[in-house]
Amino acid sequence: MEAHRRDVSHKRPFVRLNVAESVDGKLAPAKRGKVNFGSDDDRFEMENFRADADGVIIGGGTLLGEDPPLIIRNQEILARRLATKGSKHPKNICICSSLPPNLAEMKFFTNEETEKLVFTTPRTPSHLIKLAQQHAQVELITLNASGRVDLAEVVRRLPAHGIKSLLLEGGGELNFSMLEAGFVDEVCITLAPFIFGGRSAPTSFDGVGFSCENVRKLSLKSHRVNSHGEIFLRYDVVAEAPTITPSRLFSNGIQIS
Ligand SMILES: NC(=O)c1ccc[n+]([C@@H]2O[C@H](COP(=O)([O-])OP(=O)(O)OC[C@H]3O[C@@H](n4cnc5c(N)ncnc54)[C@H](OP(=O)(O)O)[C@@H]3O)[C@@H](O)[C@H]2O)c1
Repeated sequence: MEAHRRDVSHKRPFVRLNVAESVDGKLAPAKRGKVNFGSDDDRFEMENFRADADGVIIGGGTLLGEDPPLIIRNQEILARRLATKGSKHPKNICICSSLPPNLAEMKFFTNEETEKLVFTTPRTPSHLIKLAQQHAQVELITLNASGRVDLAEVVRRLPAHGIKSLLLEGGGELNFSMLEAGFVDEVCITLAPFIFGGRSAPTSFDGVGFSCENVRKLSLKSHRVNSHGEIFLRYDVVAEAPTITPSRLFSNGIQIS
């Protein structure tokens, strides 16, 4: 049986993934842009996760699409965070193979309250690296076989930046790559009562997808429904691959359990 949590090194941070998705599994409508579809209750959950984390990480698609400062606004959560971690916000981290030319105008880079850490590659022109260094710590990472940031290298370097617990906030491409690499421990999903549709709308896990033999298995830890009709789902990522047996329903199919 193949173990899916391939990197079980205690040196890597604990990684919690948190997303809000529509009932049809989309992170945003097909036209994307800034869309906030979670309730205050969802924001409260997210900010508590941020308070627990040393760092919060996003992919280049989310940086460009939302340009979010990844901060805590709720005063009670801020006070708890300050008491336990000694800083107001988790370190804001971004993975982007090539940094955007307008970075000096972006909220992610210009927010005065956050510490920032950027993982990029030699695909970013040197003048943009220098510019980014005025706002953030910048780490140059080699490209992997797909021409993207090598995540194993990123994860290996995080403890040196004081990151023992990491909150992964998407989007779907980075989520998939992190799960595929075996770097996700917990999956937290807020299922919101909307249908976005659209085959090109981002989902919680995009990438190339897993083969039947390699689908990732989750173990439900808790669930909660609120008065807005949102469902909060918390899962552990199961280390073992699912069991594959011939399907009882289809003679040429397989059953995954
Ligand atoms: N509802 C929610 O909770 C939520 C949360 C987050 C995002 N979103 C939405 O999701 C959408 C963005 O998602 P997305 O999937 O397009 O983008 P994404 O996952 O945020 O970022 C993908 C990008 O990250 C960079 N990257 C570098 N190395 C990578 C690696 N090893 N694996 C994967 N990516 C790597 C690549 O940028 P380069 O092109 O520079 O290589 C890649 O294009 C936006 O619409 C955003 O609003 C929603």
